[in-house]
Parts: sequence; C-alpha cells; structure tokens
Amino acid sequence: WARRRLRPPSGSPPGPFAWPLVGNVLQLGRLPHLTFCKMAQRYGDVFQLRLGRRAVVVLNGEAAIRQALVRQGEQFAGRPDFPSFRLVSGGRSMAFGRYSELWRAQRRLAHASLRAFSTASGRSLQLLQQHVAAEARELIRGFLRRGAGGAYFDPCPLFTVANANVICALCFGQRYSHDDGEFRALLGRNDKFGQTVGAGSLVDVLPWLQAFPNPVRSVFRDFQALNQELHDFVRAKVAQHRRTYDPRLTRDISDAVIGKIEQGGGGAQEGLSRDYVEGTMTDIFGAGQDTTSTALCWVLLLLLKHPHLQRQLQAELDRVVGRDRLPTAEDRGCLPYLEAFIYETLRFSSFVPVTIPHATTADVVLQGFRIPKDTVVFVNQWSVNHDRHKWKDPHLFDPGRFLDGEQKLDRDLTCSVMIFSMGKRRCIGDHLSKLQIFLFTAILLHQCTFEANPAERLTMDCIHGLALKPLPFTVSVKMRDTPRSCQA
Ligand code: HEM
Repeated sequence: WARRRLRPPSGSPPGPFAWPLVGNVLQLGRLPHLTFCKMAQRYGDVFQLRLGRRAVVVLNGEAAIRQALVRQGEQFAGRPDFPSFRLVSGGRSMAFGRYSELWRAQRRLAHASLRAFSTASGRSLQLLQQHVAAEARELIRGFLRRGAGGAYFDPCPLFTVANANVICALCFGQRYSHDDGEFRALLGRNDKFGQTVGAGSLVDVLPWLQAFPNPVRSVFRDFQALNQELHDFVRAKVAQHRRTYDPRLTRDISDAVIGKIEQGGGGAQEGLSRDYVEGTMTDIFGAGQDTTSTALCWVLLLLLKHPHLQRQLQAELDRVVGRDRLPTAEDRGCLPYLEAFIYETLRFSSFVPVTIPHATTADVVLQGFRIPKDTVVFVNQWSVNHDRHKWKDPHLFDPGRFLDGEQKLDRDLTCSVMIFSMGKRRCIGDHLSKLQIFLFTAILLHQCTFEANPAERLTMDCIHGLALKPLPFTVSVKMRDTPRSCQA
C-alpha cells in the first residue's frame, strides 16, 4: 500500500523528493549502490531519482533487472547521451555508444574477434593459457623481488600490469616489463576513468560544475586527458599493424578487426568506417585490462582475511594437480572449491556494483510504471548479490554456499551471481576474465603462500568508481616447496 501511495499519478516510478538544481545528488553518499538498496526498501525495486535535471530510474533485484534487460532488452539497451561518454575510444566506443544497427555490427565484431583469440577453440585457449602462465611466473618473480627478506609490499599494481599484459598480447601481440614506467603510468590512470563514468559521478549530471574551478571539473579534465592518452596508445599499435598486415596470417585481435573492416571482411558494408578499428580496440583493451586485475586484488584480500581457506584451496590444488606441474584450464572442473571461492569473491565484493549507465530507447512500461524514452537507467547489481531472499546470510563470506551435498559446484547458483550484467549489453569479456581469474589464482596459490601484514586492518572498505577497488594493503609472499619444473 505504501508503495502505491508514494507513486506519482503520472504512472512514473516513485522516489524521494528531489531538490531544485541538484535533485537527489546529495543523498547518493559515497557508495551509491548501498543508498539504492535502502531506497528500494522504501520505494520498491523500481524507483526514480533526479540527478541535476536528469530523471534516473534505478533497478534493483533480479526480477526487475531481468524483466528490463532481458525481456524488454531492446528498450533498455541504450546509453545516455552523457558528454563524458562521447570522449571514450575517440568517439567510436561500442561500450559507451548509443544502441543502433551500427552498434550491433561493432559489438558482433568485437565479441567474435575477442572470442577467436581467447576461448573459441582448443588452440586459442592453449595460447591464452601460455600467456597467463608466463605472466603468472613473471608476477611471482616480481613478488619475490619486492618481498625479499619478508618485506611487505602492495601487490595490486603488479596484478594490473600482469593482466594488462595478457590483454595486450591478445590485442597487439606485445607485452611490457613491470618496470616500464610509461606503461604503468598509462594503466595507473584507470581509477579516474571509473570515477567519471560510475553511477555516483556528478560530471555528467551537473554540467554547470564545469564553469568554475572545483574537484568535479578537474576529474573531467583528467578524464579527457586519460582517454586521449589511451586512444593514442592504441592508435600507434593499430598503425603498426596496418603497416605489417598480411591477409594470410591473423596475428591477433587487431589484425582480425582490420581484416573485417578494411580488408573486405564485411565490416565496411555494415557501416563501420576505418576509425572503428581504433575505437573497437580501445574498447577491448580499455575494458579488459583493469577489471580482471581488480578481481584479483579482491581475491588476494579475501585470501588474507581467511587464511584457513587459503590452506584448504592449496590442499585441493595439491590433491588434484599434484606438485609436478602447474594448474591448467583443464583442471577447472576438478577444482570445485577454488571455483566456489572465486564466485563467492565476485558475489561478496560485487566490485562492479552498478553497471555502466543504460538508457531507454523507447517509451516503456516496467512493472506497471511508465518510463519515457531516453531516461537514464542505473542497474544495481549489488542488490542482486546481497539479496536476503536469495542468499543465506549474504553479508558473510562463505564459498561453501556454492557447493552441493556432494561438494560439487552448484552451477545454477553460480549463474545467479550478477557482475557481468545481462541482456544485450552483457559484458563480452565474461568468459575470458573468469578463465583468467581462475588461472592466475590457481597458479599463484599452487606456488605461493600469502600472509597479511599484522600492522594493517584488512577491511572491505573501498575506493568507489565504476569498479570498487580495495584500499591499499600489503602482503608478504613465501614460495611453497616446489619441484624445479614448476619454479618461477
Ligand atoms: C561491459 C563487467 C571484464 C569488455 C561490462 C559491463 C559490466 C562488465 C558490468 C556493463 C554491462 C552493462 O552496461 O549492462 C566486467 C567484469 C569484468 C569484465 C566484472 C572482469 C571480472 C571484461 C574484459 C573485457 C570486457 C576482460 C574485454 C577484454 C567489455 C565491453 C563491454 C563491457 C566491451 C561493453 C558491452 C556493451 O556495452 O555492449 N563489463 N567486465 N570486460 N565489458 Fe566487461
């Protein structure tokens, strides 16, 4: 009854009172996804806010999100016309671009090329594994160097480079040293990207803040600069590929995309001009290098918080893989506890709590509420992963929840974790990143033991942006007794 009483007569979703000029901006708080969960208890799973002059509909809970993104997928597949979105990938971004025929063609191309060089076939899988194993070995070397003599060090910057190197190898056939300052600086600016396009960002909803000096204006300027820098990096790589392109040999994703758009592969007929090569490659490289490493930071933080789970995982690895070789993708089905640990990390951290903002592409009715075309839509993934009706004690970290009575992985339950979104805008890197997280975690745990710094309090507190990042923490690393064949 309360919900109906609060519902405005127009049929639009209910929501809190919005102040002139700023709307509900000041109510979002530091962690908007938690604010949204509280508001959903009061107004229902579909409610409306006003951010600046924009109406924003917020979707919570699996039922409402599925109804919108899957059953009414086309109507909810748009992106807002935010000024910041136009700066991504030289204005040719698929991830931040409007829903159209051209977008469909670009997404098909990006998805197919990414798959072809990661998980599509036995051969591509083999190559991917080689890249990850080589990067994991390099990572361990870096850990041992920085942790010499039992020193504590911050592992997350090393994860960032290791992951970026895997994506860089798939995209451009190249990797960089952990000591390469320029590469590290390029990757290090990622946090600013997420702070601009995440749900709590004010850059796009309060455009008048650009008129005078303030922190939001400087975030936007940094955002312009970092997008330009990333795009320039990719442009130089694509230019190199064009110069050495050979239609008989598709070396990497760049070649695949060039072949499709510029070499009679059909992309041009679908309307994709030459600059979509750079746009698509910036999207794939940009989206792929930061997210997976953030997942690994959460994995390590939770291993440190739960040392008994680390021992259990190592025991499983030793039993299944043994000590004479490294874990591989083929072991995945036989390591249910490790898989469960990873799914629980994704659920518990929900480190992409709200997806990239969506927009409606037409007037639409959702759960009886009328939502006009071009309304901004926030999808609260956190609410799904922490829903009390779905998960027993969602606030507890318990990988065992994903195992059935026979200690096998409950596949249905793993599918209920929502971190890659769903429907037409679902992440195209989901299989690749899950495999990468599995391989890195398996190899690192097989080879090393991680210990927390007793001088630090490990918390789930985080830096908020499109992705939630753990606050900096340090770790010490010991090699486990390893036969020479496996040594890093
Ligand atoms: C979009 C999550 C890794 C490429 C997204 C979205 C989420 C997401 C939540 C937004 C979906 C929406 O707006 O509804 C993640 C997570 C990752 C990950 C949690 C790692 C654990 C990757 C990787 C790649 C990638 C490795 C590529 C190599 C993309 C692209 C989009 C996207 C291109 C835009 C899709 C579109 O707008 O149609 N991802 N992602 N992601 N992701 Fe990922």
